[in-house]
Amino acid sequence: MIQIQKLTKTFGDFTALHAVDLAIKKGEVVILNGVSGSGKSTLLSLIAALQKPTSGEILIDQTPIAKLPQHHASRFRLEHIGFTPQDFKLIPTLSIYENILLPLVPLGLSPSQIDSRIREVISLIPIGKDLTHTAKDLSGGEKQRVAIARSLAADPDLLLFDEPTANLDSGNAERFLTLLEKLHCMGKTILIATHDPIFDHLPLPTRTIYMRQGRIVDAL
Ligand SMILES: Nc1ncnc2c1ncn2[C@@H]1O[C@H](COP(=O)(O)OP(=O)(O)O)[C@@H](O)[C@H]1O
Ligand SMILES: [Mg+2]
Repeated sequence: MIQIQKLTKTFGDFTALHAVDLAIKKGEVVILNGVSGSGKSTLLSLIAALQKPTSGEILIDQTPIAKLPQHHASRFRLEHIGFTPQDFKLIPTLSIYENILLPLVPLGLSPSQIDSRIREVISLIPIGKDLTHTAKDLSGGEKQRVAIARSLAADPDLLLFDEPTANLDSGNAERFLTLLEKLHCMGKTILIATHDPIFDHLPLPTRTIYMRQGRIVDAL
């Protein structure tokens, strides 16, 4: 489903990713492990087509996304990818409900279709707050769950989670693991950047990939 070929990303004279090669099959659950600064978030944001690589290519379902013009990249992301950024990227002045429905806006659904979609994702990942609450007033854990719910709203095949349990208490982290099992059973392809040891023993088949200083390595 994802083929990454010689992917390099530089920021000025600093190289955050060094010619990374990686292939991920449809339905796989892949844990991307590595210390802070090893390049995990950079890799996820390139796969999500949120920034462009310096060189190399990313194929998602055979579509090369590295050089897509920005509006095509946005459309591709909306239709195929659910991304939960490390810093959530919620719109602070909008309600929980409005933040979750954002990926549904370009899909042209009716208000009742939107409403049933939102109820469905909330049943998968309860926020524990009335959905009319404004995003800026939420706790870190609540914001994290809203960002996860938003990533599921358009029912994408590929889910990218960046440090998804960093702000969750142990109960909610356990609930996230249950969510992962459900998403895996639904056939989703899942990539999780994390250094949380809670992912060391998941009750589902996973592959762990280690990153160090912008490279994929055999072990940490
Ligand atoms: N926009 C940017 N400008 C400059 N340096 C960046 C930028 N984004 C990431 N980096 C650098 O790239 C390296 C990898 O960062 P990141 O991908 O966030 O790592 P991780 O998610 O594993 O902690 C870090 O040294 C970081 O400072
Ligand atoms: Mg990161």
